[in-house]
Amino acid sequence: MRTHTEILRDFESIAGPIGPHAEVLREYADKLQEWDEFFAKAFYDRLFSYDPTASIFRDGERTEREETLKIWYRKVVSGEYDDTFWEWQFRRVGLVHVARGIPNEFMLAAMAFVQNVFLMKVKDEFPPDEAARIYLAFKHVTDAIATIIAAGYMYTYLEAVSESTGMSLKLIERHAKLVAQREYADGKSE
Ligand code: HEM
Repeated sequence: MRTHTEILRDFESIAGPIGPHAEVLREYADKLQEWDEFFAKAFYDRLFSYDPTASIFRDGERTEREETLKIWYRKVVSGEYDDTFWEWQFRRVGLVHVARGIPNEFMLAAMAFVQNVFLMKVKDEFPPDEAARIYLAFKHVTDAIATIIAAGYMYTYLEAVSESTGMSLKLIERHAKLVAQREYADGKSE
């Protein structure tokens, strides 16, 4: 399995460094952290209003989930990131959801929702230029987390297929290419 450090290095090389965005968030962290309750409520109102996501939660789990989401949000907008932070995103935000059977598309859609809610809030609370700077910073960091979540999801499934079938990761990759070529070719003839 690729490590969170390797995934993050790819992200920064392709999308751009996180450092300058972290600096912007540090500048506004005190104010942004005040929105934790608002965020947790908006997030779980949305997940509980759609049956496929609502059915994942156990009875009485919402309070605990809101508390962990508040911690996550406050940490993200703190702009203070060390290796422990990124490892936390990989394991406790990424893999913990794989272990609960939550599809990757739910995770990425939920992150898009988080970004949209943040944009609406920041537009209400700051003048346009500042709002754009803060939103870009938040988007960059949460895009990095989404990348780590998606990669962790795929590598976990690849490891699972490899372990249960005895196929090497190389062989699975070669087979995936063949399946993709076939599907691509099928699509072209439609
Ligand atoms: C941007 C997307 C998401 C973020 C940032 C997020 C964040 C978190 C965090 C920080 C935890 C606590 C992990 C720990 O134990 O340390 C957690 C747990 C959990 N989340 Fe999410 N979450 C996201 C999306 C979702 C979605 C889409 C669902 C369900 C549809 C979901 C359901 C759960 C469940 C059931 C747990 C408890 C896992 C367990 O310990 O069994 N999450 N989430």
